[in-house]
Amino acid sequence: MQARILVTGAAGFIGFHVCKELIKEGFWVIGLDNLNNYYDVNLKKARLRELSKLLKIKRNGSFIFIKTNLEDKRSLNQIFKKNKPQKVINLAAQAGVRYSITNPNAYVSSNLVGFANLLELCKDYPVEHLMYASSSSVYGGNTKTPFSEKDFVDSPVSFYAATKKANELMAHSYSHLYKIPCTGMRFFTVYGPWGRPDMAPMIFTKSILADVPINIFNNGEMSRDFTYIDDVTNAVVNLLSKPPNSPSNKQKTYSSLESSVPHRILNIGNNKPTKLLDFINLLEMELLKKAKRNLKEMQPGDVKETYADINLIRELIDFEPKISLKQGIKKFVNWYKNFYKI
Ligand SMILES: NC(=O)c1ccc[n+]([C@@H]2O[C@H](COP(=O)([O-])OP(=O)(O)OC[C@H]3O[C@@H](n4cnc5c(N)ncnc54)[C@H](O)[C@@H]3O)[C@@H](O)[C@H]2O)c1
Repeated sequence: MQARILVTGAAGFIGFHVCKELIKEGFWVIGLDNLNNYYDVNLKKARLRELSKLLKIKRNGSFIFIKTNLEDKRSLNQIFKKNKPQKVINLAAQAGVRYSITNPNAYVSSNLVGFANLLELCKDYPVEHLMYASSSSVYGGNTKTPFSEKDFVDSPVSFYAATKKANELMAHSYSHLYKIPCTGMRFFTVYGPWGRPDMAPMIFTKSILADVPINIFNNGEMSRDFTYIDDVTNAVVNLLSKPPNSPSNKQKTYSSLESSVPHRILNIGNNKPTKLLDFINLLEMELLKKAKRNLKEMQPGDVKETYADINLIRELIDFEPKISLKQGIKKFVNWYKNFYKI
């Protein structure tokens, strides 16, 4: 019998892809999501329908979906009591840097209160591995690149980033106190089919096709370590079977693979930053259409560059991103046209 895995944020972009892969591999997956309306709920429902379709083809995997809030501790307790998940992958959160400026409370609620509830449940019903999403945004305005897990990350420039850094600290404390093996995953600008409508690939594609000008912040003087969703999903699924242990060597540092607490932080990125304007060029080539460009100032909360050092995850699971940005954009645009019937 394969392990029971609780995936929170199962109707979200990354959660959906992770559930899909776990079902394919025959795991017993419990998917949780509150289906909130931060972006189009129909996209979230369509992802869930896709998972149901997959279940009909795959006979060994299993998937149940539970619509609930991480903030609802009673409901979470029922889920843990009934299903006793052996592993938990927390991908539910209020995402997005810009929205955290206008609606910080959504981040307090999902990312802080919700995550605290999840940690409590992982303490009450001990799990073999708790994996949770952090973000490249914790590196804030750091200028030393590539960003390494050993770098100083105490200067977030958005409230979103502050909640992600808080998650890492909260997980570390529970890991230390209750020996919960935890892996914090710092994702770097994930993109691909079924992606998020609030992120650049989707916003730009939609606007270019509709002849609407796209806003290019900081006059395009920005770069992102765009990471294709399949590379991310493979990393997440591979890491499941690599919970950190409590080694006897107490001298190692917090971000090392051999921390004295069974908690580790890993960058999951492409290790190949792309300038925003190059990204737009690639998208235009794939869409066979030029963008109308609206150059704008830097947005509050944004950072100029993200660039992942991936040596730690390479060492751990032989991680190597496989999909180039050109290939990834092609796959994304194909999905977009097919899904939105363009
Ligand atoms: N996509 C990226 O580029 C990226 C980069 C860095 C970090 N992350 C992090 O990865 C995780 C997954 O991101 P995503 O891109 O799939 O985002 P997403 O918004 O598509 O998915 C998150 C899902 O969580 C659900 N959710 C939100 N709050 C909830 C709550 N309180 N209770 C239950 N469900 C809730 C939402 O309905 C949504 O379906 C998030 O933690 C995000 O911050 C993503």
